[in-house]
Amino acid sequence: MTPLDPTTRVVRAAIESDTQHGAVMPPLYLASNFAFEGLERPRPYDYTRSGNPTRDQLGDALADLEGGRQAVLTSSGMSAIAVVLQLLGTDDVLVVPRDAYGGTRRLIDTWAARGRFRLVLVDAREDDAYERAIRVNRPRMVWIENPSNPLLRITDIARVAAAARAAGALTVVDNTFLSPVLSKPLAQGADVVVHSTTKYLNGHSDVVGGAIVTGDAPRADGVPEDLGEALAWWANATGATGAPFDAWLTLRGLRTLPARIALHEQNARAVADALAAHPAVRVVHYPGLRDHPGHAVASRQQQGFGGVVSFELEHGKLAVRRFLEGLRCFTLAESLGGVESLVAHPASMTHACLTPAQLEEAGIGQGLLRLSVGIEAADDLLADLEAALDRAGAAAQRERVSARSSCRTVSP
Ligand SMILES: Cc1ncc(COP(=O)(O)O)c(C=O)c1O
Repeated sequence: MTPLDPTTRVVRAAIESDTQHGAVMPPLYLASNFAFEGLERPRPYDYTRSGNPTRDQLGDALADLEGGRQAVLTSSGMSAIAVVLQLLGTDDVLVVPRDAYGGTRRLIDTWAARGRFRLVLVDAREDDAYERAIRVNRPRMVWIENPSNPLLRITDIARVAAAARAAGALTVVDNTFLSPVLSKPLAQGADVVVHSTTKYLNGHSDVVGGAIVTGDAPRADGVPEDLGEALAWWANATGATGAPFDAWLTLRGLRTLPARIALHEQNARAVADALAAHPAVRVVHYPGLRDHPGHAVASRQQQGFGGVVSFELEHGKLAVRRFLEGLRCFTLAESLGGVESLVAHPASMTHACLTPAQLEEAGIGQGLLRLSVGIEAADDLLADLEAALDRAGAAAQRERVSARSSCRTVSP
């Protein structure tokens, strides 16, 4: 039989799995514990922190989409990241990009400062930054966020993963921004994929969750025999596993992921083009634009560029304030990947935990805004943005004129 397309498989994940009543959609097992059949005769599940049928249904569907073997579902993206970091010992070196998500940096920086592992930060803008860091530091783990949050820098996953593997290091890719519909890091040599399922995978901004997906590829270089089992062990031991209801909702969201991503991508491309053409915008960060430094690599390694677009306004924070006033279709909020459009100011929101020096090093300025482009009608989104940009440009112009005239009154 011809294998089913992944889109079909995810829509139909766990459908008709209910043997008791024949429910079409899978039932939700909220139970925290499961009865033993008798002394020393456990059933496949005993306690929900260790395993749960609803969570496993989501895990199987997600592992299938990522082309992996096993998925560990956690209570948040951060707890997925924390579980992966448990693989490191005190002498191990971790390589991380400077402009990784602020929460990732906060955890990694704090644990590194407490001696949990050794940290090497790389500037992913430099072409061979990862390779150099791997050569010099012989890391145990190399972290990639592709594209990075919020500047959407692209990393050549296959190239970095090959260098990491040759040095005996694990490659971990945070695939939150693209989802397995647009990027499959395991097929490019990564060992572990992490997700904040809070974002595109659930897709409706009503669940916080995380996932870790591992592949089949056996490794003969000292990496734990079965990485998936090691990660599941840590998730259970630390109590990081996700709640069944969250898994059930997330599986419901996952069924429409390919359809949603197509719309997110279509709208994001239109938004990026409109922003790039407006005089109030200094620069647009969207890998789908031909002049984006990562465009060629992204075009080669991904099936699309995603639904997040960042841009810098010409007149910094003042313009940002005016831009945000009166938006109709973009809500000022953290997070991304839901059906609704959002706007965030990374310096004061998602990346507020970075110091001013760290923000500057990462290239996150006060004029930077990040859009999570939703699946609303493109014309509405474009009209809303045009009006906001006109407001921002005009206000900044007025301020400049009045600043110039007040300077004239005080100067000799
Ligand atoms: C790229 C990336 N990874 C991880 C996380 C953390 O996920 P969560 O908020 O579900 O803990 C986020 C959150 O914004 C993110 O953007």
